[in-house]
Amino acid sequence: MPLSSKHLLGLQGVPAEDIQLILDTATTFREVLDRPIKKVPTLQGKTIVNLFFENSTRTRISFELAQKRLSADTVNFTTSSSSTKKGETFKDTVRNIEAMKIDMIIVRHESAGVPQYLTQISEANIINAGDGRHEHPTQALLDMYSIKEKTGDLKGLKVCIVGDIAHSRVALSNIYGLISMGAKVSLCGPSTMMPMGIENLGVKIYHNIEKAIHENDVLNVLRIQLERKAGTTIPSVREYHNYFGITSERIERFNRDILILHPGPINRGVELSSEVADGPYQIILDQVTNGVAIRMAVLYLLGTRP
Ligand code: CP
Repeated sequence: MPLSSKHLLGLQGVPAEDIQLILDTATTFREVLDRPIKKVPTLQGKTIVNLFFENSTRTRISFELAQKRLSADTVNFTTSSSSTKKGETFKDTVRNIEAMKIDMIIVRHESAGVPQYLTQISEANIINAGDGRHEHPTQALLDMYSIKEKTGDLKGLKVCIVGDIAHSRVALSNIYGLISMGAKVSLCGPSTMMPMGIENLGVKIYHNIEKAIHENDVLNVLRIQLERKAGTTIPSVREYHNYFGITSERIERFNRDILILHPGPINRGVELSSEVADGPYQIILDQVTNGVAIRMAVLYLLGTRP
């Protein structure tokens, strides 16, 4: 069965069958990554443009690697060296790129809704690589894949998303995806970092990190987004760490079986102690490896969709 949509704009409203198909397909591609020659001819002849208007290390490189592993032709657009610096509009930029006969656009933008807008001005498949505070669907898919790889199943699993929920696009995609796959989702953080009405999405709210550690199987710990002015919602990062930081002492006191995820980049000593960031409970670099397999799966399923 093909994916139900031509684009991947977010996980809100995406059927569980589509998520399961992406996770299952990623398992096939994860095996390719362990081969001596990490390449398959699946997307030969397809042209993909990576349109990144915001900084990225993991998402940009793993999309590019996924495209190369699938034998697609790839082009990278970076704002700093483009004609947007001469005043060209976003729409004109996209239409000129489209005129060069491309098949797919991967887009990251600081404004929520840009991937949706692209679907109106382009015929290409659009994949959201993070739009403002809205969604980051491939991050949530790789998070779910990594959790499932360690625990065997998402159904009934208690997953708590910790930290700067208000500025996060990873949080919303994880909430939609995990609930759709049958997990019990909660959030933990200061009330100033919780969006108004977020509990209406069916999530439990904690303001006490020790209780959250004690009662959950998995913590997905988010970065405090200082570049989005998250610092104005807490007295200081030191105080945030004292009240909400994940430390070995807290884990060993309240839940030695917990699994720790972080989408990266990490603020060491703020949301996680360095000991936890490098320690036995975390699977942060597994997430990064799995990210390539997930992006291969999404590119393959959209690129070969009838
Ligand atoms: N997790 C994530 O989106 O990281 P980058 O900003 O480095 O892509």
